Formats: sequence, structure tokens, C-alpha cells
Amino acid sequence: MAERTLSIIKPDAVARNLIGEILRCFEVAGLKIVAARLVRLSLEQARAFYAVHKDRPFYGSLTEYMSSGPILVSVLEGEGAIQKNREIMGATDPAQAAPATIRRRWGTDVEKNAVHGSDAPETAAWEIAFFFKPDEIQSAHK
Ligand code: CMP
Repeated sequence: MAERTLSIIKPDAVARNLIGEILRCFEVAGLKIVAARLVRLSLEQARAFYAVHKDRPFYGSLTEYMSSGPILVSVLEGEGAIQKNREIMGATDPAQAAPATIRRRWGTDVEKNAVHGSDAPETAAWEIAFFFKPDEIQSAHK
């Protein structure tokens, strides 16, 4: 059954005109973009989205960065979409990411790592609902 995951193209990647190249990676891998929007998070919204990391030392810096400029949020759909997206993104730290992954190609450091992707079905459902109403998501298009 087709699965859905949330993807974010982070502020530095949007600022560097990488939206097209990064979305292309998802499409080449066979994932469908079934919703997409450019948004600018407030600091409060960024803090809410990353609340799971609130006790981590990087929480303040991460949420300031994620609210520093526009981001491209999208819903990707396909067989095993969550895991497939994680493979396309590569490891969190661009220096550790496999060659040809998004983070290896365009990530700057562990914070400015170009993209975010949901890590499990429960977080995907929560993260998708954070940004999109059900009627803003198109059902699988061929
Ligand atoms: P992301 O997939 O958006 O989820 C949490 C983010 O925290 C992560 O990508 C990184 O950009 C950021 N982050 C910053 N420092 C660290 C760190 N030391 N370990 C893990 N994530 C970090």
C-alpha cells in the first residue's frame, strides 16, 4: 500500500535555489508529490514542530534556523515512502551521508542539512497534519 511522508526543504536550500533539484530527486526515485507549499514558520511554529527535540542542546539554534526563511513543505507518496525518502536524503550529518544523497550533495552541516523527512509512520501522520488539511493532499496520481 502506498505510504506518505512529510518532506521539508530547509531555509538555506530554498535560499540557494535548490527546490527544483531536490524535488527532482524525489520524482526520479518514483515518489509522487501529492501536496506542496512554500511557508515561513514563526519561531513558535518551529518550536512546536520540533518539540520532540526540546531537551536537546541544538533545539534553540535549530528552531531559529528553521524560522529564518521560507521552507518548502511537501507530502511524498509511494511504496515505502518513509524509508525511500530517508535513503534519498542520506544521513543527518552531510559529512556522513552516502555519495549522491541530497544531504551529501547540498547539505552544509548537521543543522543546515538541506532537508527533513519523517522517520516513522506515526511521526509522518503527525507531521503531515501539522502542515496540510486532508483536502489539500491529492490522492495518488498516475
Ligand atoms: P531533521 O531531520 O530536521 O531533524 C532534527 C534536526 O536537528 C536534524 O535534521 C538536524 O538538522 C538538527 N540537528 C542539529 N544538530 C544536531 C545533532 N547534533 N544531531 C542531530 N540533529 C541535529
